[in-house]
Amino acid sequence: MNKTVLITGASSGIGLKFSHKFAGSGHDVILVARSEEKLLALSQEIMNKYGVKAYVFLSDLSKPQASKKLYDEIKAQGIRVDILINNAGFGLFGEFEETELSKELDMIQVNITALTELSKYIGKEMVSRKNGRILNVASTAAFQPGPLMAVYYATKAYVLSFSEALANEWASHGVKVTALCPGATETGFSDAAELQSSKLFQSGVMSVEEVVEEGYKQMMTKDKVVIVPGMKNRMLTQAIRFMPRKMVTNIVRKVQERV
Ligand SMILES: NC(=O)c1ccc[n+]([C@@H]2O[C@H](COP(=O)([O-])OP(=O)(O)OC[C@H]3O[C@@H](n4cnc5c(N)ncnc54)[C@H](OP(=O)(O)O)[C@@H]3O)[C@@H](O)[C@H]2O)c1
Repeated sequence: MNKTVLITGASSGIGLKFSHKFAGSGHDVILVARSEEKLLALSQEIMNKYGVKAYVFLSDLSKPQASKKLYDEIKAQGIRVDILINNAGFGLFGEFEETELSKELDMIQVNITALTELSKYIGKEMVSRKNGRILNVASTAAFQPGPLMAVYYATKAYVLSFSEALANEWASHGVKVTALCPGATETGFSDAAELQSSKLFQSGVMSVEEVVEEGYKQMMTKDKVVIVPGMKNRMLTQAIRFMPRKMVTNIVRKVQERV
């Protein structure tokens, strides 16, 4: 039976590719983001190309009531979510005393609060059905502190920790939870975070296709709890476990600095 997949941040980058991947595998998709034109065009393209349903729900997840409103609207239309992809998110580059607090509070709302709320509302239904799957997009940033992107790295540490704990709690309820932890990936993310000239993004990025293919396969066929796409990213996240944390933090700062 076709499943219905809700994807936040479906209008570009990783979420856009996940929307194609799930629809191309025969699933109906619920596309969520703020960009109306992009989502309407995407839903038309998906319906024509794959012959599945593609619903559009506009939502600004940085607004405190947005996640509950989104959930209520989806329920009111009688749509059941079988798979939840909490992908919407963004970062911000700069020294903490100089960055805009309002942007950081919005980031916490999107990267942490909305992800937690949607996991609660939709996850509870999955638990009562004893079936479902949630994928939360974290980052390799989740594994260590990130000077010059302090708030972003901290939000992703939350996503990883939360996802692993939930995966443990819900294993006995038939609900699978995964944290996808990409490294630098070629999407609109670096522009949005004002990161284009950071060494991190100058030293090689993965393609969004590679990240989504690996994430989809490891989640859907292997039920992996933590997925780090790419050999280089996997080696780096393992290597730092044996280094003093202060040293790791200093290295991240060097990598983050502008070229
Ligand atoms: N690219 C990387 O290097 C990288 C690495 C590790 C992890 N990640 C994570 O991957 C996820 C996807 O990012 P991406 O790389 O695909 O970047 P992207 O191309 O900039 O896409 C971000 C998506 O999030 C949505 N979004 C942003 N703010 C939103 C809001 N307030 N309400 C609703 N939707 C919002 C955007 O849609 P609208 O603008 O239309 O609302 C867009 O669809 C993020 O969680 C990011 O932290 C990215």
